[in-house]
Amino acid sequence: MDFETVCIHGKRRVTEATGALATPIYQSATFAHEGLDDSGATGSGYDYTRQQNPTREQLEYRIADLEGADEAFAFASGMAAITALMELFLPGDRIVASGDLYGGTYRLFDQVLSPKGYRFEYGRDTDALIALITEDTKAVFVETPTNPMMNLFDIRKIADAAKAAGALLIVDNTFLTPYFQRPLDLGADVVLHSGSKYLGGHNDTISGFLAVKGEALAEKLRFILKTTGAGLSPFDSFLVLRGIKTLPLRLEKAQENAKAIAQILSENKKIASVRYPGLPSHEAYELATAQMTGFGAMLSFSVTDAALVPQILRRVKLIQFAESLGGTESLITYPLLQTHADIPEAERLSIGIDDRLLRLSVGTESAKDLIEDLTQAIG
Ligand SMILES: Cc1ncc(COP(=O)(O)O)c(C=O)c1O
Repeated sequence: MDFETVCIHGKRRVTEATGALATPIYQSATFAHEGLDDSGATGSGYDYTRQQNPTREQLEYRIADLEGADEAFAFASGMAAITALMELFLPGDRIVASGDLYGGTYRLFDQVLSPKGYRFEYGRDTDALIALITEDTKAVFVETPTNPMMNLFDIRKIADAAKAAGALLIVDNTFLTPYFQRPLDLGADVVLHSGSKYLGGHNDTISGFLAVKGEALAEKLRFILKTTGAGLSPFDSFLVLRGIKTLPLRLEKAQENAKAIAQILSENKKIASVRYPGLPSHEAYELATAQMTGFGAMLSFSVTDAALVPQILRRVKLIQFAESLGGTESLITYPLLQTHADIPEAERLSIGIDDRLLRLSVGTESAKDLIEDLTQAIG
């Protein structure tokens, strides 16, 4: 079955007695039993929604099938998914991560886990990251493309190094989704998502996912999910299931828009540089074509003069100045004061997140309207 078909129909269905095409929202906290030897009134195995719920289960099947995973787990947010994942490790464990992470992930590592004794080290590119992987490395955590610099890491190479060291490879696939990149096929053990972005796709809900290979790992994560209790609600599960039906359509249109905007911006004299992996001038363009099946619709750009930043943010009309990404609406973000505000200044500047950098999540509006809006805002 092709990807587009799986997005709509899925490969596995939770049994629907009514024949409803849309998975119903099973808004029930608990499920009744016929007797001691029956789990759930229909023998379905449902007990209590923190543990599992039919709407969430259908969504977990969908994510697992799209990522080529054995199992997937749905959480209340991307950060809840990462926090649950970190329960696999212990204080003292060494985790190697890509530099230039989403600010919230960095904050969790730096301000919540490091003080407890977890040891994080950051590699700026594939080679630097691989050089940090040693026999006592428990996990490698990679974001590719990175947020907001759009740097790429070579998943295949890192997977080989992680395997040789016996470390788990975790890839944050939020920016591309399985439609444009399937990290498990490239050797990763865990894929994570902020489903608040492209998977939900409409800027109307928050969610997070872990998709994993291997039954032993899946069992541990299922236990952590039910025990720590950050599973996605039935209503939010319904919204993400609905969003996924149009994932390929939205991504194709948003990518087409992003390509056009990246080109226009790179020709504008007030723009110093554009970071988009679909531009042949991107230093990892070749890697992009080798490990991704599309370039996505996220880009960042630097203006020549920091004074242009407040002007652009004030003047945009159609494009909204707001945090987040991956929805139908185009959003512009100022990483310095928003998504990456908690990264220490020296660290932030060395990554390239300065007062001239803006990030654009290109939506599915008309490319012409978006270009007109950006061009008038830049002036
Ligand atoms: C790449 C990436 N990973 C993880 C997260 C966290 O996800 P959430 O906001 O759903 O908690 C985000 C949020 O912006 C993100 O951009």
